[in-house]
Amino acid sequence: MIKVLFVCLGNICRSPMAEFIFKDLVNKEGLSDFIFARSVGTTYETIGRDMYEEAKIKLDEKGIPYKKRRAKKMNKSYYLNFDYIIGMDEQNIKSIYEICGGDEKKKVYKLLDFTDHPRDISDPWYTGDFSKAYDDILTGCKALLKYLQKKHDLNFGKDYTKDELVSLIYEDMKKYAAITPSDADITRYFALGTKLIDIRVYISDMYNTEIEDEDAIPSLKNYYMQLEKYIRDLKK
Ligand code: 4NP
Repeated sequence: MIKVLFVCLGNICRSPMAEFIFKDLVNKEGLSDFIFARSVGTTYETIGRDMYEEAKIKLDEKGIPYKKRRAKKMNKSYYLNFDYIIGMDEQNIKSIYEICGGDEKKKVYKLLDFTDHPRDISDPWYTGDFSKAYDDILTGCKALLKYLQKKHDLNFGKDYTKDELVSLIYEDMKKYAAITPSDADITRYFALGTKLIDIRVYISDMYNTEIEDEDAIPSLKNYYMQLEKYIRDLKK
């Protein structure tokens, strides 16, 4: 399980919005068994408060589900327990370093650093601009998820179109096996559905059980064995 912690100042506007927007994207990609998200703040001022009303109104307007919550403050245990610590602005990053004694394990990032235009997400508590905050947070969360999917090979859970699947299968095969699937193979894979994971597991089974000369395809077999182990480890 990959654990992502969003951090802002008060934990009642930007970071809970990021948590719920990100979870919505993760669910839609079919990755909720693999990626976990929470949020905290860096100040004591707002501890225990629910998400700010205007943030809720913005999430309602966009159809993003959220729950009643109590604001929490960052501490070193969060740093140790999470894999990615994502601040909203430079001030958050400085506070995280102060609270955690630096960033020994290189886990701290600023949300918009994952986009083509790195910058701070300004605080709607002070600016009153929840639309801008929402747009920036959504852009950052989409870019963060894309980064995680690429880094951790997690782009298999969602329903793809056939065109998308064809290119993903070719990419898989080129990257891991130096094999080009035939048209007949591709047609057979499609019969399995529209999730890359179903097709990968099918191919893995096929190569593990049907091929007699296993040495002929060591890299492919090795790849799928690793993939299965990785999925098992993630699910723990
Ligand atoms: P946030 O905004 O960091 O986006 O949650 C704030 C909300 C409340 C306060 C500061 C920032 N406050 O100091 O009360």
